[in-house]
Amino acid sequence: MKAVVLHKPKDVRVEHVPDPTLLNATDGIVRVTSTAICGSDLHLYNGFFPPTRPIVLGHEFMGVVDAVGSDVHRVKVGDRVVAGFSVCCGTCWFCTRSHPSQCERSNPSRYGPDGDLLEEKGGGLFGYSDLYGGYDGGQAEAVRVPWIDATVRRVPEDIPDEHVLFAGDILPTGWAGVEWADVQPGETVAIFGAGPVGLAAAKIAWLRKPARVIVVDLLAYRLAKARAVARAETIDASLEAPIQALRALTAGRGPDVCIDAVGMEVHRSPLEKAANLLHGQAGSISALDACLRAVRRSGRVSVLGFYGSNYDNFPFHRVFDKNLRLRAGQSDPQSSMDAILTLLVEERLRADDIRSHTLPLDDAPRAYRIFNDKLEDCVKVVLKP
Ligand SMILES: NC(=O)c1ccc[n+]([C@@H]2O[C@H](COP(=O)([O-])OP(=O)(O)OC[C@H]3O[C@@H](n4cnc5c(N)ncnc54)[C@H](O)[C@@H]3O)[C@@H](O)[C@H]2O)c1
Ligand SMILES: [Zn+2]
Ligand SMILES: [Zn+2]
Repeated sequence: MKAVVLHKPKDVRVEHVPDPTLLNATDGIVRVTSTAICGSDLHLYNGFFPPTRPIVLGHEFMGVVDAVGSDVHRVKVGDRVVAGFSVCCGTCWFCTRSHPSQCERSNPSRYGPDGDLLEEKGGGLFGYSDLYGGYDGGQAEAVRVPWIDATVRRVPEDIPDEHVLFAGDILPTGWAGVEWADVQPGETVAIFGAGPVGLAAAKIAWLRKPARVIVVDLLAYRLAKARAVARAETIDASLEAPIQALRALTAGRGPDVCIDAVGMEVHRSPLEKAANLLHGQAGSISALDACLRAVRRSGRVSVLGFYGSNYDNFPFHRVFDKNLRLRAGQSDPQSSMDAILTLLVEERLRADDIRSHTLPLDDAPRAYRIFNDKLEDCVKVVLKP
C-alpha cells in the first residue's frame, strides 16, 4: 500500500510499504478514506523529534473497517469510523477514568510516571515516533488500529468525511482547552494561534456562550479565517501589541481565559532562535508567556500548544502573583468524541470549514511544505488516499 513516510526532517515521501496486518485479537484494520496533517506532525517534520527510523506519519484519519481480530466486539467490518489520535486500551486505570492519552498499556517500552524528555512518556500516539509507541500512522491507504473498540468511534453513513474527520483531534483538543478553563457564559476568551487548533477552540468556546472570543495571530489570512468560520474578533500581532490590545478590549483587566494554541514553534526572530538554542531549549515559551501576561488576575490558562523541553526562564512568578489556574497537555480525544460527533451530526457544530486544501495522498510532500511554511493560504490539509 501507499503511505506517507518521514525519513528525516523535511524529507517526507509517499512510498509503497507492506500492508498492515492484525497483530493482536483486539486490533482492527481501517482502510483510510480521509486523513489530515496536524500542527503536531510539524514537530516531527521540523526535527524536534528526529526520527530514529522511517515512520508512517498521521494521527488524524477516518475510513472503513476492513478486518477485525477475534476479540473485537463493538466495531464490525464495513463500519465507517473516525480514530482518536491516542492509541488507548479502554480498560486500564487511566482509560477507565477518561484519560485515554495517558493509557498505561499502549506505550509499553517508553511509558512511565515521570514524564521525562525521552523516557517515561504518556500513552501511544499514531504515527508519532518510538517515544509514543512506534505505531504506524494513518496518512496511508490503510492502518492497523490497536484496541479498535476503544480507539475509534463509528460515524453515520450519510455524513461526508470532511464533517467528522476533525472529531479525532483538533475538535477534542479545542474541547479540552475550553473545558479545562471552565469557560462561563458572558466571559471573554482569548485564543493565541489561528491555526486549526485555535480555530477549533474558538468554535467550541462559543458552545459555552461567552460574550467574546478573540483570536490572536500574526498571519492576516488566518485571522480572516477566524473571523469567517469562528465568528471571532481578531488581533493581528504583526500590527499591534496583542497584550495591550486585549487589555484595551477588557477594561484593562485582561480576558477571563487565555488559550495557547501556538506551542513552542512560535514565530521567532533569528536572534531569539539563537538564544533558545544557546539555552538548550526546544522552541520558545513566548506564546505561553503572552497568555500568562494577558489573562486577568485569578483567570485561567489552557495550554494546548505543544512544549517539548525544559524552559529555564519559565515565569512561574506570574502564575503565583496573579493567582492563575494553568492546565496543559495532550487532550483525551476519546473522552469527548461522542459528544462532539453528536453536535456535528445534529449540525450544532461545524468544522469542515477549517479545511483549506484537499489533496491526493501522493501530494503529501507538497502538502507538508505549504502547511509548514504557511503558503497558499493553507490552514488545514486533508489528504485522500
Ligand atoms: N494538546 C493537544 O492534544 C494537541 C492536539 C493537536 C495539536 N496540538 C498542538 O497545538 C499547536 C497548534 O496546532 P495547529 O495545528 O493549530 O498548528 P499551526 O502551526 O497551524 O498553528 C499555529 C498558529 O500559531 C500562530 N502563531 C505563531 N506565533 C504566534 C504568536 N506569537 N502569537 C499568536 N499566534 C502565533 C501561527 O501563525 C499559526 O497560525 C501545535 O503545537 C500542536 O502540536 C496539541
Ligand atoms: Zn494532532
Ligand atoms: Zn488504557
